Amino acid sequence: MKCLILLLFIGLSSAQFNSNTRAGRTTIVHLFEWRWDDIAAECERYLGPNGFGGVQVSPVNDHIVLQNPWRPWYERYQPISYKLCSRSGNEQQFRNMVTRCNNVGVYIYVDAIINHMCGGGGGTGTHSSCGSYFNANAKDFPSVPYSEWDFNDAKCRTGSGEIENYNDAYQVRDCRLVGLLDLALEKEYVRGRIVDFMNNLISIGVAGFRIDAAKHMWPGDMKAILDRLNNLNTSWFAGGTRPFIFQEVIDLGGEGISVNEYTGLGRVTEFKYGAKLGHVIRKWDGERLSYLRNWGEGWGFMASNRALVFVDNHDNQRGHGAGGASILTFFDARIYKMGVGFMLAHPYGFARIMSSYRWTRNFVNGKDVNDWIGPPAHADGTTKNVPINADSTCGDGWVCEHRWRQIKNMAIFRNVVDGQAFSNWWDNGSNQVAFGRGNRGFIVFNNDDWQLDVTLSTGLPAGTYCDVISGQKEGSRCTGRQISVASNGTARFQISNNDEDPFAAIHVDARL
Ligand SMILES: *[C@@H]1O[C@H](CO)[C@@H](O)[C@H](O)[C@H]1NC(C)=O
Ligand SMILES: *[C@@H]1O[C@H](CO)[C@@H](O)[C@H](O)[C@H]1NC(C)=O
Ligand SMILES: *[C@@H]1O[C@H](CO)[C@@H](O)[C@H](O)[C@H]1NC(C)=O
Repeated sequence: MKCLILLLFIGLSSAQFNSNTRAGRTTIVHLFEWRWDDIAAECERYLGPNGFGGVQVSPVNDHIVLQNPWRPWYERYQPISYKLCSRSGNEQQFRNMVTRCNNVGVYIYVDAIINHMCGGGGGTGTHSSCGSYFNANAKDFPSVPYSEWDFNDAKCRTGSGEIENYNDAYQVRDCRLVGLLDLALEKEYVRGRIVDFMNNLISIGVAGFRIDAAKHMWPGDMKAILDRLNNLNTSWFAGGTRPFIFQEVIDLGGEGISVNEYTGLGRVTEFKYGAKLGHVIRKWDGERLSYLRNWGEGWGFMASNRALVFVDNHDNQRGHGAGGASILTFFDARIYKMGVGFMLAHPYGFARIMSSYRWTRNFVNGKDVNDWIGPPAHADGTTKNVPINADSTCGDGWVCEHRWRQIKNMAIFRNVVDGQAFSNWWDNGSNQVAFGRGNRGFIVFNNDDWQLDVTLSTGLPAGTYCDVISGQKEGSRCTGRQISVASNGTARFQISNNDEDPFAAIHVDARL
């Protein structure tokens, strides 16, 4: 029966819903603002060897260069053309990265900005990452080319030309989002420019796309574009493979637009996931870990095989987007690791790990006024490389959450338990919980303010296992705690609320 259900799910998660990651690789990591040369090196030296399935890269195309504020991260969300030169590198560097990552089985997912061009107040000149001339006031982008006829302003019915009411689906799709020039995607000409851009990336070898601001585009226009995308490049992918599509749709409920309008086109970002998980782990609003027993659809989320899940993303880790202060980030490292650990152990959704750079937060009336700060950069604005320290952490302000032992080991855990059922749930009615994944892995959390000391059925074969949170298996020994599973599958867990990381995880590939 379980096998049958499993087969059905694999059958459903076909075409554009399939991540295209190699068999046995189950996560992607967003290397936010990394340079192409650094990503290529990271695929070869770290992501490939540690079983990561792919990288979501920052926008690849020509974008505006802003000086006030100085080189903010969001300049890359303001396209000037579809040429492939960006703050992360030029076209040759991009092609080199795709080839090198693909060759070690780590695939590239491009953040595609197709809803809009730069802000209407972007001025005129050649201040773009490719040095392309444009005139934002005249809506003239000769390097595409787009002219004023290719934008939506005539259709927008608000006085300001901006989205004023998110309950009005017409405004959300036809008006300007924070001043950005909104493309008229019903026009055959505009669709053609976008399809050419995306098919060029497919030809180079990318495996799929994050569709930025999907909520601000009509699903019918998106479908017309997505249907015209080519199959993936057969140098690396089986013939007939469709690009993986995951769409950014922020829907926390109660607005005019629902994720259900988009789940037929590809996967959709499940923003409720990180917002709710943040509440539970922070124990806000009376939430408890024991309530996670029916996590997933039971919490009102979309179907698992339609969801792209994440604890935080590049927007909501700095207060943009959705979820507010509940969102867990590297700034709260101890509970962040628990949140990411829970996500990677739990079968719901396709998981994306965030990898960030550090900035100095400055809260004024509850808002971080430094939310715009761009990546670590030299005085001339070029993005810094990512130096790797002797202990495998990153320098120069790059956080590299994906290299944290606990997160890297849980990415491996997810690969090891792939396809196994959610099993052996236990909770103490409060914030101590545990669950397994069939007979392959088991995880225990103590988010209460007292010791956990309990013997649990793990479902695992007898043996001595290395906890992959406090350490890992190295050769024939554990660098952290050891857990003994008895012949009847039970194991005693002792986790202090004062432990550096108050959770433990074991899996069959970390057995002595
Ligand atoms: C696929 O990639 C290879 C290697 O980069 C390239 O030579 C080839 O032209 C690409 N195929 C298509 C159909 O674009
Ligand atoms: C939680 O777990 C501990 C043992 O791990 C137990 O002593 C306690 O009573 C449990 N229940 C609650 C509601 O705290
Ligand atoms: C399982 O085995 C352990 C160790 O031999 C024993 O202490 C425990 O009582 C057993 N539990 C069950 C449910 O049989």
